[in-house]
Amino acid sequence: MSEPLLRRPPFLKPRPLFATCDAGLEEVLASELRAQGVENPIPEHRGVGFMGDPKAMWRANLECRVANRILLPLAEFNAATPDDLYEGVRRIDWAQWMQVGQTLAIDASTNRSQLENTAYIAQKAKDAICDRFREECGQRPSVDKMAPDIRINIHLEDDHAIVCLDSSGERLHRRGYRLETGDAPLKETLAAGILLLSGYDGKHPLLDPMCGSGTFPIEAALIARNVAPGLIRLREGGAGFGFQRWRSFNRAAFEEVVEDAYDRIVPSDHPTIMGSDIDREVLEKAKRNAERANVANELTFEERRLSQVSSVGDKGLFVVNPPYGHRLNRGLTLEGLYETLGDLLKQRFTGYRAAILASQDAPYNCIGLHSSLRHPLRNGPIECLLLGYEVYEGSKKGAPHGDRFEGRKQGYPRSSKPGIKPFKKGYPKSKPEPQDESAPSEASSPLPSPDEEA
Ligand SMILES: C[S@@+](CC[C@H](N)C(=O)[O-])C[C@H]1O[C@@H](n2cnc3c(N)ncnc32)[C@H](O)[C@@H]1O
Repeated sequence: MSEPLLRRPPFLKPRPLFATCDAGLEEVLASELRAQGVENPIPEHRGVGFMGDPKAMWRANLECRVANRILLPLAEFNAATPDDLYEGVRRIDWAQWMQVGQTLAIDASTNRSQLENTAYIAQKAKDAICDRFREECGQRPSVDKMAPDIRINIHLEDDHAIVCLDSSGERLHRRGYRLETGDAPLKETLAAGILLLSGYDGKHPLLDPMCGSGTFPIEAALIARNVAPGLIRLREGGAGFGFQRWRSFNRAAFEEVVEDAYDRIVPSDHPTIMGSDIDREVLEKAKRNAERANVANELTFEERRLSQVSSVGDKGLFVVNPPYGHRLNRGLTLEGLYETLGDLLKQRFTGYRAAILASQDAPYNCIGLHSSLRHPLRNGPIECLLLGYEVYEGSKKGAPHGDRFEGRKQGYPRSSKPGIKPFKKGYPKSKPEPQDESAPSEASSPLPSPDEEA
């Protein structure tokens, strides 16, 4: 069928867009969008609303580190019954957005609505789209749930439906580099969100002493070099983005945005980024993941026990997502693990900021330091807290006398309360911990030196 000559592309001027993210990362996402030039992004529950033209939508997909999807709302209507839903979806001019020969998939969600069955909602919406095409051109698109050309998102809230095109396609946490993982890997978007909440900007060293498949160090390297994470998806064989398959897609204009993202990559002169882990096999996976992300030269991975790590330089970020299990290797308990983390910080990381992602029921008080940030986050099904610490000389209280790392006196100025300094300001939802909750531990267990203990 030939293209109608004067068909106006449906998306040239700014339209409302919605970027979704995990709960707890809304302010970070709003701040990322602001940095891209978006005016007045509005954080909502698990997402941020904003106005944007196609360029803004492409940039959000390419550059946001914490967004899951960028959605383009097409229609809103009341949908208390199946017929309402069918009619509302059928009224949309789908041929503006897709060709009949393309495949589609529909993601449905519902909350406090009479239509409760998401499979039924998706089915009804699919029927409406196919019937509309059949009426207009005698053919209908087919469904491909795994790898569709066009992904459609329908959300019902209080019997009100919002129908969106999903401009991202595959969810954005799938950057395309992390093809191998160990136990309990962090989503790339969550790892990036934790780094940004911790104020990481590539200007100081970073260490993850339990790095697993390398998500924190790799995301840190992408931040340090200002690499838009979406560039990885555009490589040959990568998932690309959903909008590249939309009918109105302007390839030439998008290529300019991509060029611009390449131009903003900064030279590789950042301080050390290091990941270590006890498990040699997972470190090999981390190295291959880093190669796929094109940042293998930006970081180092080393096989080390937690108790063997030490700091580089006077300041930096110690970031870790400890195992959640109740029994760890060598009979170590979770309490023992958190005590070791606290001792390590006090004895060897003065001047550092620490960010620890712990499940809400983890014995994190065993760290024995006052946290200056407690930020709720979810790691998949696990309710977590991002705990932030500023490690001062005062917080070294528990270090055994004569500890070989005690000589390092530099760092942030001593605060009036030993070991306490507010975490980086800026994200209003961060709540400081009540001061009396965890007193610095007096009885710190001696750690072996980094060179001891094979
Ligand atoms: C929850 S996983 C970290 C996942 C990682 N953030 C990722 O995205 O892949 C915890 C890691 O701690 C490591 N680990 C457990 N005990 C350790 C120890 N005593 N010293 C160093 N690493 C340890 C495990 O090998 C595992 O890779």
